[in-house]
Amino acid sequence: MRHASITGIGAYLPDRVVTNDDLSQLVDTSDEWIASRTGIRERRIVAEGQATSDMAAAAGRGALADAGLQPEDIDFLVVGTGSPDHIMPSTAAITQDLLGLRCGAVDVMAACTSFILALQQGTAMIESGRADRVLVIGADALTRHIDFTDRRTCVLFGDGAGAVVLEASDEPGVLGIDTGSDGSGAGVLVIPAGGAAMPCTPERVAAGEHYLKMSGGEVFKFAVRIIPEATKRALELSGLTVDDLTLLVPHQANQRILDAVAPRLGIESERVFSNVALLGNTSAGSIPLALHDLYTDHHLHRGDVLALVGFGAGLTWGAAVVRWMKEPKE
Ligand code: ACO
Repeated sequence: MRHASITGIGAYLPDRVVTNDDLSQLVDTSDEWIASRTGIRERRIVAEGQATSDMAAAAGRGALADAGLQPEDIDFLVVGTGSPDHIMPSTAAITQDLLGLRCGAVDVMAACTSFILALQQGTAMIESGRADRVLVIGADALTRHIDFTDRRTCVLFGDGAGAVVLEASDEPGVLGIDTGSDGSGAGVLVIPAGGAAMPCTPERVAAGEHYLKMSGGEVFKFAVRIIPEATKRALELSGLTVDDLTLLVPHQANQRILDAVAPRLGIESERVFSNVALLGNTSAGSIPLALHDLYTDHHLHRGDVLALVGFGAGLTWGAAVVRWMKEPKE
């Protein structure tokens, strides 16, 4: 059987660092409140004029270089994002042009779960023989949709992008993937205006309906339930158990969520990766950015079993169990 394996990884973070103290100049909050409730200390924010596709292309370029490939080697591009450059055209099409790829390209939009669904799509294309090499990118500039006068949301998010190259292989790299959605939770996390349901009007913009709205407690409960459930299902599909897991690499939304899932999965907190303190919630970027951090910090070894787990608006979720097939970074 044909398998898909990760052969390259890249990342991009905007230069601008915004600390909790910086945010306390804008809204009634404090470093103590943000750090104790979320674990976040700082985040990166896109520059004026910088788009999601710019970050996606930079991360994609890094992944191509790491895999030792040229743009013409890629058969398909999937960009997972919840903050596309435009409703039309797709961010993937713009990214394809920036990277000089000569292939089809599509966006996968599932908020913070976008990267896992993009990975699923790339894996399916390789396993079915439709493609030999797929570039999968997770990129978000969600701060563009944040109301920086709303202390309940503006402290949580940051911007960034990560990318992986998937290649056909005889050895199984991407193993079981479990994905799901429950649209009855659509109102829990939503940017109400700006789409076909509620086009932007001056009245709606004045009311701030083009900004992200979130029921924080609902997201918290959902995340703590779904991360262990989806992880266990993906492990089962892979013929593995929690004991086989080297590391859980969850979407980085909030340290308290990450702390709560370790005992629920029956693993030590050291086996739950976290970089939320420095990046905040980078949405579709967070899982590949986490992988990139692990790889560049020499924490990944050939044969390691990783569970990549996303969850977010929709409500949506996805867990992918991956056997890491690259040697540690030199
Ligand atoms: N600074 C100071 N006070 C704040 C802040 C802030 N930044 N934000 C909220 N508060 C206040 C509220 O106004 C409220 O005050 P009140 O009681 O006077 O009205 C009080 O703190 C408690 O508010 P809660 O919303 O109940 O705070 P909670 O303890 O639930 O923490 C949080 C909020 C951190 C958002 C939490 O609900 C959470 O972690 N939820 C998970 C959601 C998440 O991580 N979302 C990320 C995006 S979703 C995704 O990635 C899938």
